[in-house]
Amino acid sequence: QIQSVTGRRVWDSRGRPTVETEITLVGGAVGRAIAPAGASTGSGEALDRRDGGAPFGGHDVQGALAAVNGEIADLLTGRDATDQAALDTALIALDGTPNKHRLGGNALVATSMAIAHAAAAGLRMPLWRYLAGDRQDRILPLPEIQIFGGGAHAGRRVDVQDFMVIAVGATDYAHSLEMVAEVYRAAGALMGEAKLLQGVADEGGYWPAFDTNDRALEFLVRAIERAGYTPGQDVAISLDIAASDFGKNGRYTLARDSREIDSDGLSEMLLGWLARYPIVSIEDPLGEDDPEGMRKFTLAAGPGVEVVADDFICTTAARIDRAAELGACNTALIKPNQAGTLTETRAALDAARAAGWESIVSARSGETEDTTIVHLAVGWGAKQLKVGSFSRSERMAKWNEGLRIAEALGQAGGQLAPRSAFPWGR
Ligand code: PGA
Ligand code: ZN
Repeated sequence: QIQSVTGRRVWDSRGRPTVETEITLVGGAVGRAIAPAGASTGSGEALDRRDGGAPFGGHDVQGALAAVNGEIADLLTGRDATDQAALDTALIALDGTPNKHRLGGNALVATSMAIAHAAAAGLRMPLWRYLAGDRQDRILPLPEIQIFGGGAHAGRRVDVQDFMVIAVGATDYAHSLEMVAEVYRAAGALMGEAKLLQGVADEGGYWPAFDTNDRALEFLVRAIERAGYTPGQDVAISLDIAASDFGKNGRYTLARDSREIDSDGLSEMLLGWLARYPIVSIEDPLGEDDPEGMRKFTLAAGPGVEVVADDFICTTAARIDRAAELGACNTALIKPNQAGTLTETRAALDAARAAGWESIVSARSGETEDTTIVHLAVGWGAKQLKVGSFSRSERMAKWNEGLRIAEALGQAGGQLAPRSAFPWGR
């Protein structure tokens, strides 16, 4: 039973204010969670409530905190914290807007996740176990890890937002981190030798001091090789194009190449990359307003490549249903703060499963020490996890939490889904 609900202002990895909700149960169990924040947000996302005005660039969250400490606390006090679905439904109804802007997506997601943490703590269970419910299978998610940042996370220095790697040849979760650690180190050494080392971008990947997107891809392949791995076989490439950020109505403006191309042109460029580089996953290849482009690209890329929908579906079950029906994309990026509550996040994951899609649980570019999403991935059996690069502690907190969960499971390094369960292994 919930005794108290408190909202507190804390700070995220970009130094901006964000919402932490702390829930205490009768008997003393405490659950707490922090809202993350995106930079390349989809238009269909739950909307964070920000104060605007001068302080902190308009990003302050006093309004959202007042909602947590007022209306939300009044609603939840005395309720059973294990009744997640009912409480989330009540929160959605209390907000009463389609995009959750009245109370704020940030107020709602922090609260919804804190409810789960408190319920698990009350039952003296780790969150992943509480979320797993009757699920018996236990796997750790295969990490996709950023090596170079880009797009909106690096001043549009290159068009592509995430140049990532996936250790497709890893024997277990711990091994996948070891492999990527070597690739990240090798990439840093290569950048240093080429006099291109200029710090890191928002998610901890090296700042993309490249003249073209292709150059970044070449460096990525060289980094994999330098780390002693065979590109594609041991370590493969994954990209988040985040095309909604540089495209509208089927027209795309490539900043680095200073040219405008249409949907077919962008698709052709990306298919060329698929042919030239060992890419196994590509996210938001076309804009969120270009479903037909997505459909054509998904078909052309073929079933062995993950075509991941992020801005395109915004962690919404109904959008996943529509996209699957159309044949646009084949994998869902799952971000709790796009949905606004855990129950809606879970519904999106279930919709993806029902459509035969893979799911990747994902963090945001603005993050904190909060590790809830790792517990969601394990508890819900998601096969993949995306939390940014292999530096900056808001990222490492999550990779490291996976190691702790693997140990708690009594698994040496954390069992991954078999290679044959991934599109590239089939
Ligand atoms: P965001 O970026 O958190 O800035 O939206 C992450 C992503 O696009 O996957
Ligand atoms: Zn994305």
